[in-house]
Amino acid sequence: MVSAGVSSALSAKIRLEGVYKIFGSQPRGRALALAKAGSSKDDVQTLTDHVVGLADVNFEVAEGEIFVVMGLSGSGKSTAIRTVNKLHEITDGHVWVDDVDVQTLSGRALQELRREKMGMVFQHFALFPHRSVIDNVGYGLEVQGVDRDTRNKKALEALSLVGLEPYASSMPSQLSGGMQQRVGLARALASDPDILLMDEAFSALDPLIRRQMQDEMMAIQKKLRKTILFITHDLNEALRIGDRVCIMRGGRIVQIGTPEEILTKPATGYVAEFVQDVDQGRVILVSDVMVEPRPVDRSSTLGEAVKRVSDRAGAFVLDDVGRPVAVLTVADGLRSIEMGSDRLDDALRSDFETAGPRQTLNEVYASAGRGLPIAVVDEDGRLIGNLDPRHIMEELGRVESLIDGFEREVFL
Ligand SMILES: Nc1ncnc2c1ncn2[C@@H]1O[C@H](COP(=O)(O)OP(=O)(O)O)[C@@H](O)[C@H]1O
Ligand SMILES: [Mg+2]
Repeated sequence: MVSAGVSSALSAKIRLEGVYKIFGSQPRGRALALAKAGSSKDDVQTLTDHVVGLADVNFEVAEGEIFVVMGLSGSGKSTAIRTVNKLHEITDGHVWVDDVDVQTLSGRALQELRREKMGMVFQHFALFPHRSVIDNVGYGLEVQGVDRDTRNKKALEALSLVGLEPYASSMPSQLSGGMQQRVGLARALASDPDILLMDEAFSALDPLIRRQMQDEMMAIQKKLRKTILFITHDLNEALRIGDRVCIMRGGRIVQIGTPEEILTKPATGYVAEFVQDVDQGRVILVSDVMVEPRPVDRSSTLGEAVKRVSDRAGAFVLDDVGRPVAVLTVADGLRSIEMGSDRLDDALRSDFETAGPRQTLNEVYASAGRGLPIAVVDEDGRLIGNLDPRHIMEELGRVESLIDGFEREVFL
């Protein structure tokens, strides 16, 4: 329909080319000229009273890639993502989605592009409070005129991707914040868009839930291979989930690279400073790495209990108020079964360690060396998480190797 030119990089699903966005009464005036001449956001603001949202922004997101835009608040991340679905008109440059120059679209064509090609998940997106979960997820299909049976089927498929199929008929208010955010993800996935636009989608969640969401998103991505433009202000999140990370400051791109490149070859002092935050690697909290408790019921048989431990280092048995009193490991369980027992009590041990959620991994590192799971407990001693030695080692190993490389290059 549109006389849009054809993008030269056909493998790029999304492409921003020399994009400027100036906010103010005369965006194409002096402010743009100054920004083009390289003036900083602050200078443009002082001289013209216009705000530089984006200046000379160039990046491509390849099909199937998770591309993360990271920067401090006000650096232009949301403005950048909003150019892709034309929630913003840009001041200069081009934004391509496939071979379409989205800025040339309007009305129906724009609506179709948004509905059919893109799913969106935002931090403060709202679920409709009076619609059930399945009707929330199917909403986009409903406005596309898809019949009820088809949209329910698609909504259920999307819900099963995020593990919420059993909650299809619940109301949003019955779900936790993390679950609501998953419904948001399911809603974005329901129309099977090629592109997911996610603006601080997990930023409001607790660390544990947040990591779970990141893991789930990566698992879903393995299956679906969407093209994902993901915005975050959190470098750790960016490095964890991004195939490539783009760092922004004052509306401009400072660096684009793989997580390893960002850490080991920071383009500027600014990135290097940012990256030093990853030194948090050394102070990763127990709550960042623990997994949800999956306690063993005291009345279960040993066989059942071993199954429940499954791929973990072990599972805890709790007392009446939820405090861990013993731990079952697969090794202990199998040994007892081999010796002919099916009594859980025969395989339990009580010499496990506990930790608080705010302790750092370094503090619990030594306890992890015993290979037993560590019980993460709240102030009242109740079990709130399992800390698996393997997860601690993986996390520390990953971060250490990144930081070592980084320090070798930058500080030595
Ligand atoms: N509608 C708007 N009108 C004026 N200024 C805006 C508008 N939207 C964003 N800005 C400004 O543009 C800059 C980038 O904002 P934004 O993209 O929201 O940053 P981020 O998402 O990185 O926190 C900020 O200085 C912000 O104040
Ligand atoms: Mg933002």
